[in-house]
Amino acid sequence: MLSLHLQFFMSKQENIHPYRHLLPRESKEQLLGQRGKVLWFTGLSGSGKSTIAKGVEEELHNKGFYVVVLDGDNVRTGINNNLGFSEEDRTENIRRIAEVAKLFCTNGVVTICCFVSPTTAIRAMARQIIGETDFVEVFIDTPVDECEKRDVKGLYAKARRGEIKDFTGINAPFEPPLNADLVIATQGKAIADSVQQVMQYVVPIVNNQ
Ligand code: ADX
Repeated sequence: MLSLHLQFFMSKQENIHPYRHLLPRESKEQLLGQRGKVLWFTGLSGSGKSTIAKGVEEELHNKGFYVVVLDGDNVRTGINNNLGFSEEDRTENIRRIAEVAKLFCTNGVVTICCFVSPTTAIRAMARQIIGETDFVEVFIDTPVDECEKRDVKGLYAKARRGEIKDFTGINAPFEPPLNADLVIATQGKAIADSVQQVMQYVVPIVNNQ
């Protein structure tokens, strides 16, 4: 006997025929001279994910790579504007992002995702959706006291005043990744150096010339 939930899910899927790429991924990757990859930046709010991603995007672009950046604040004002920061909503946030990133990646695009993605389980879901070979986990490793000191958006101060509940690092958990492909420790380091560290890792794996 199928569970009600599964029956409902299946009935919604019944007449859906998943899109098949008319052109193979390899043709697109050949055209672009690159390999699709998802660089999944995880780290606290204010850790530097978007700043480093912007630098990497620029550098890759200047070298002739085609890059798309998906960023927490932007995506949350668009396709995910109905989601908050409960565990359930964060999971749905990351599930949708991972599906979008997968579409870009399988069409040959170097895709940089900048999301707090605070738990091991949430990142494992992203990895599972995107697939082991395309998923590159990059931990932007900035300690919470440093993020709080920077407090670029003033959110840590708000969270301390009790004005934001479930704020990651203050009153909601952040589980540091234990097996990230790349760890960028930003404290005391220039942004340009963090960008270079990512570039050294990424260029060889996206290059397809
Ligand atoms: S995630 O946890 O679901 O991965 P996401 O990266 O999309 O989070 O969004 C995080 C951004 O939303 C933060 O950089 C911050 O600007 C803002 N934000 C607002 N409320 C919260 C909160 N409670 N916890 C974390 N970030 C928050």
